Amino acid sequence: MQRALPFHKLIMTNSKDDPKGIQRGLTQYGDAGFSLFLRKAFIKAAGYSDEALDRPIIGVTNTGSEFNPCHGNVPQIIEAVKRGVMQAGGMPIVFPTISIHESFAHPTSMYLRNLMALDTEEMMRAQPCDAVVLIGGCDKTIPAQLMAAASAGVPAVVIPTGPMMTGHHKGERLGACTDCRRYWGKYRAGEVDDKEIWEINAKLAPTVGTCMVMGTASTMALTTEALGMSLSGSAAIPAVASERLRSSEDTGRIAVTLARNRVTPLDIMTPKAFSNALAVLHAIGGSTNALIHLTAVAARCGIKIDLDAFDQLGRKVPVLVDLKPSGAHYMEHLHEAGGLNAVLRELKPWLHLDAPTVDGRTLGEIIEASEPDPTQTVVKTVADPIYPTGGLAVLHGNLAPDGALIKHSSATQSLLQHTGRAVVFESLEDLALRIDDPDLDVKADDVLVLKNAGPKGAPGMPEAGYLPIPRKLAQQGVKDMVRISDARMSGTAFGAIVLHIAPESAAGGPLGLVHNGDLIRLDTQARSIDLLVDDAELARRRAAWQPPVSTTKERGYRKLYLEHVTQAETGCDFDFMLPEADGRVAPVLR
Ligand code: FES
Repeated sequence: MQRALPFHKLIMTNSKDDPKGIQRGLTQYGDAGFSLFLRKAFIKAAGYSDEALDRPIIGVTNTGSEFNPCHGNVPQIIEAVKRGVMQAGGMPIVFPTISIHESFAHPTSMYLRNLMALDTEEMMRAQPCDAVVLIGGCDKTIPAQLMAAASAGVPAVVIPTGPMMTGHHKGERLGACTDCRRYWGKYRAGEVDDKEIWEINAKLAPTVGTCMVMGTASTMALTTEALGMSLSGSAAIPAVASERLRSSEDTGRIAVTLARNRVTPLDIMTPKAFSNALAVLHAIGGSTNALIHLTAVAARCGIKIDLDAFDQLGRKVPVLVDLKPSGAHYMEHLHEAGGLNAVLRELKPWLHLDAPTVDGRTLGEIIEASEPDPTQTVVKTVADPIYPTGGLAVLHGNLAPDGALIKHSSATQSLLQHTGRAVVFESLEDLALRIDDPDLDVKADDVLVLKNAGPKGAPGMPEAGYLPIPRKLAQQGVKDMVRISDARMSGTAFGAIVLHIAPESAAGGPLGLVHNGDLIRLDTQARSIDLLVDDAELARRRAAWQPPVSTTKERGYRKLYLEHVTQAETGCDFDFMLPEADGRVAPVLR
């Protein structure tokens, strides 16, 4: 069928203030009519009619990759989203973005998160999308997509790929990747032989989907739902469940409504929404990584997350969700127990119930509409929690002037107040070379220190904060030690581990001044981490310190990253992506 209006009239008719659909963001040739003419000529090569292209255009991010099993169900999710978009009168158009899997990202997935955020933001803005459905899942993907959505200003809704199912070994459930680390520790200690470790290797991740413990992927899916940026219930539905596809279909329908009403991510991701997400982060015993990611997303929204206020909130909000590594269950069980709504119902005293969500209801209305399950045992009550305070504590002290983090709900409690002798590793390479040396001078009550593993130092702030117990101590039965670094840690790990020390050692932080044999005092109750060396000696060491990172011989993305990545307390985003500091602080307490 021919169009009723000539192209130049169409442009003149519709482009006065806010062009819609296929007319949005025309490629610049100096002639808007020609730009649309050319665009339509090319997209007709794909078989679209003018009638189809008159509908609201809903972009759908294809983050599927054969290197990313956590996104192995993306093709099915895309089909379901497209059904929903079509049902609501929109036109779905799928486009690719970077896909990041934790185990297929050198040097680290965190190094690539900002690249994915740049890619996603620019493609959301460059292409004619009235709204975008963001399909994310593996750890860094949803954070990158939320950062992008906040900056692009295009209406957006997230659908997570969902958690994988659990595996089984000798009558025991297995979860990636808490049990990856646990069994690797047993193998290192000689408790598991070569044959059994390879059997376990084939059982740890039995289906597509994200890690099914309370790692970063689960944490980000749940906090994104709490932020209001994904549909109620969508965080915990297993990746392989048919219900996930119905939730994806719903997400497609909602995207069309967001497009029609021009509801942007900044309308949803308000200070109240971040406050809700941070309360949920404590209550689920969530991953330490999530605080960096939420800080980065909030900063893109012009909101500063105050670390000390977050810590204060954590002294009141208990850990309620009984999931590994803090508890006993897995994401499929949280889904059976009612998903995030079961947590939100208990958390009501600390939530902003009037915060809006993408489906048009407030968080409070969603909670009221959900059905409690009195028989479930996965989400505890405030009166009988898993852990009496929030899972994460913010530390300060002369070792961490700009803060550090410890997941104290997943640590040996007797180590949370501890003073020990530093055993220092200068880098990841040094750690790999010496940690299992039988001659390493180390005892169980020492403090393992890893330097140069922060955002710039490694680079990419690897999940290396979970330093392995030296083999000779592991073989003696030592399961946990105080370990400190400027690195991150997988949310699936367990231990008395101080992370995200800022400023990092490679940027001149005091961590870089620690010597073997120095005494380090961790006092989690007092929220402090200190190097017990006098100021004069520290000044002498600082005068002799040389920065380990130079960018003069670097090129491309690595140069961009090294010169512009910020520290943990500002979310490790690029400095040039942050809105001007406007002094707003998320009100994390009611
Ligand atoms: Fe993708 Fe764990 S490796 S979520």
